Amino acid sequence: MLLLAIETSCDETAAAVVRDGREILSSVVSSQIAIHALYGGVVPEIASRKHLETISPVISQALQTAGVTMGDIEGVTVTRGPGLSGALLVGFSAAKAIAAARRIPFVGVHHIEGHLLAVFLEQPLPFPFLALVVSGGHTHLYHVEGIGRYTTLGRTIDDAAGEAYDKSAKIMGMPYPGGALIDKLAASGNPAAVALPRPLLHDGSLRFSFSGLKTAVLQHVAKHPQAVSGQELNDLCASFQQAVCDVLIFKTEAALKQTGARRLVVAGGVACNSGLRSAMAQLCARLQVDLSIPAPALCGDNAAMLAVPGDYYLSNGLASRDGLDVTATWDMDSIKESLT
Ligand code: KG4
Ligand code: ZN
Repeated sequence: MLLLAIETSCDETAAAVVRDGREILSSVVSSQIAIHALYGGVVPEIASRKHLETISPVISQALQTAGVTMGDIEGVTVTRGPGLSGALLVGFSAAKAIAAARRIPFVGVHHIEGHLLAVFLEQPLPFPFLALVVSGGHTHLYHVEGIGRYTTLGRTIDDAAGEAYDKSAKIMGMPYPGGALIDKLAASGNPAAVALPRPLLHDGSLRFSFSGLKTAVLQHVAKHPQAVSGQELNDLCASFQQAVCDVLIFKTEAALKQTGARRLVVAGGVACNSGLRSAMAQLCARLQVDLSIPAPALCGDNAAMLAVPGDYYLSNGLASRDGLDVTATWDMDSIKESLT
């Protein structure tokens, strides 16, 4: 099946053409980051307006790069949620309109479902597996038994890991989003230089909490204003990164032991993080668990990742229920209710 996939849940307008949920013919991502950086974070109203301006050219570019026309497309898939409602509506309406005009099937999928299945665009994996999704909005552990069969094992009770990166980066005087820059500076820093907390580490649950870590960075910078430049900044970045990785590794190990899973998938924008990638590789080597982390281009927001669940649902005769709308929040355990 030749699918057109569309993603507009936050600050990236993306479209992709994917064959059989496997072969990426094109994947176009137009980022709004430069505009939102002026405001220190994503401004929802601006995001919607930018998506409106960009959606048609991005879709045209995706078709052109793939060497196909709209007439060749056999189905449309799009992020239905979670995300910013106004932003989601732009992609969702475009996808619905294309499907209706062309009389082809349409399915709205879960953004996180796309993230955790993105690795299938590189290699198909056997189920079940444990998935850690770490992005700007999510820090979740899922037991994945098949496409559409996800059980939430643990999640953050406050900030997501990416949110903690971006908020801490802002405190350190870096532009939005600062996750990748912290990662870069951390490479030249001492991870033991600044004592930072590992929230909820020993509470015996699979819950995460990152807001206290950000507050600890704030307090450190207030006491040591020189900590935001030179080697001290590198040290602070390395110490912060170590704290985040320690928590993610500890809870992932607990979840692997709890489920007995022999395979781990790490996904989402924070899965680009070099410290996390190497710490996960060490963990999985120690536990003799197979590890899959997609290439960085497939970790961040993109539309191609949506074609993995999209192709599966449409090929199995499932599509979005009539009259379905976008949803800013959406529980992964209730995806089936949106399908008919
Ligand atoms: O998955 P994503 O592109 O968008 C969401 O669905 O949220 O993730 C974006 C997040 C941002 O918080 C960004 O700072 C973070 O991923 N990020 C990183 C790195 N690259 C992106 N965080 C840490 N290290 C990185 N190398
Ligand atoms: Zn995302």
